[in-house]
Amino acid sequence: MPGYEIIGEEEKNEILDVLSRKMLFRYEFDEQREGIYKVEEFEKEFAKYCGVNHALAVSSGAAALRVALSALGVGPGDEVITQGFTFVATWEAILDTGAIPVFAEIDDSLCLDPDDLAGKISSRTRAIIPVHMCGAQARIKEIVSVADSHGIPVLEDTAQSCGGRFNGKALGSFGKVGTFSFDSVKTLTTGEGGMVITNDKELYIRASEYHDHGHDHDPDVGRGLEKRNFIGLNFRMMELQGALGLAQLRKLDNTILKRQRENKSRIKYALSKIGRITFRNIPDPDGDSASFVIFFLPTSEKAKEFNRVMTEEDVGAVYWYENDWHYFERWEHLLEGKSLLPSGYPFKNEAGETRCSYQKSSLPKTAELLSRALTIQININMDEQLPKILDAIEKAGKEVI
Ligand SMILES: Cc1ncc(COP(=O)(O)O)c(C=O)c1O
Repeated sequence: MPGYEIIGEEEKNEILDVLSRKMLFRYEFDEQREGIYKVEEFEKEFAKYCGVNHALAVSSGAAALRVALSALGVGPGDEVITQGFTFVATWEAILDTGAIPVFAEIDDSLCLDPDDLAGKISSRTRAIIPVHMCGAQARIKEIVSVADSHGIPVLEDTAQSCGGRFNGKALGSFGKVGTFSFDSVKTLTTGEGGMVITNDKELYIRASEYHDHGHDHDPDVGRGLEKRNFIGLNFRMMELQGALGLAQLRKLDNTILKRQRENKSRIKYALSKIGRITFRNIPDPDGDSASFVIFFLPTSEKAKEFNRVMTEEDVGAVYWYENDWHYFERWEHLLEGKSLLPSGYPFKNEAGETRCSYQKSSLPKTAELLSRALTIQININMDEQLPKILDAIEKAGKEVI
């Protein structure tokens, strides 16, 4: 899964290209940079790869969400629906705009359940964020259809599924806007970094200005003379990250995804030989980026037992049900409304009244699914790990099932 596994000469050469001109910055210095605009080039290549008109590189996946939400006009008084199985960044970004996250269930795709989504929409819903979790698709067509029927924009959090597709179309390109992360554990990494993609030119311009202190990016005047249409902040990507992104993107399909798919199919085959194991529903297996294999045991006890054997063999699986960063019931800081601010904002308003609060047991379907699910992370290079994993699966199958 992590693109850092295959960092090599291509990345080094791209970085040297930047350093040799001393141009670490994406804007300005047109003469010194001798035509080298790595972030801009990365944006163009990434947009082409995703089949969209616009891509805006930013400083992280969380920044991508934050910028996209602002470009959608989300703010105080609004609600944004997302799922109770995601990384905390998804709802942190919502709270950071002043809006309130509303959590919906996942289904057996382990992504947003379109049926539950429909019941969570209110007159305040301003955006819907399905998260393409763990390398594969949400039921994105159905989600977009529910959202469209209410005229609500969809923001696809594609942080974990770069390179994933549904019926050949890039994940992140189905809704109004899509976001990506290129952090340390992502399929394509730039160290830290992210991307916002869209076909909506106006939204792209708002995002581009917002992510750069409001600069209106007028090509006819110097940067210091540019005007501002509204306030913004700094979420810029730097040239070194753009350089890394270019090198990694060139390897995405033919090295990263290809090897992940080979490794995943071997693990999945071993698991499929064990009775009573079922797999996560992947709406389009051909478009799976194959960075994880997720399977269900009949009960949570069996899942824990299976993982105990795997762990004894030194290849323990991820048990999201007990993971503090990805699962609603484990987000105690959200459930207890812990804020850095004495006022308690964003959980309380200025008068000390509750703005939003969350109950631990409010997503029973998500709990039931995750309590039976085990996840094996797929790496690009698994030659040493693979035999151990396959042996452990066989052993756990015999002992537990
Ligand atoms: C679903 C999801 N959204 C957003 C992010 C945030 O990305 P970053 O770490 O680049 O801020 C992550 C990171 O793991 C993620 O998994």
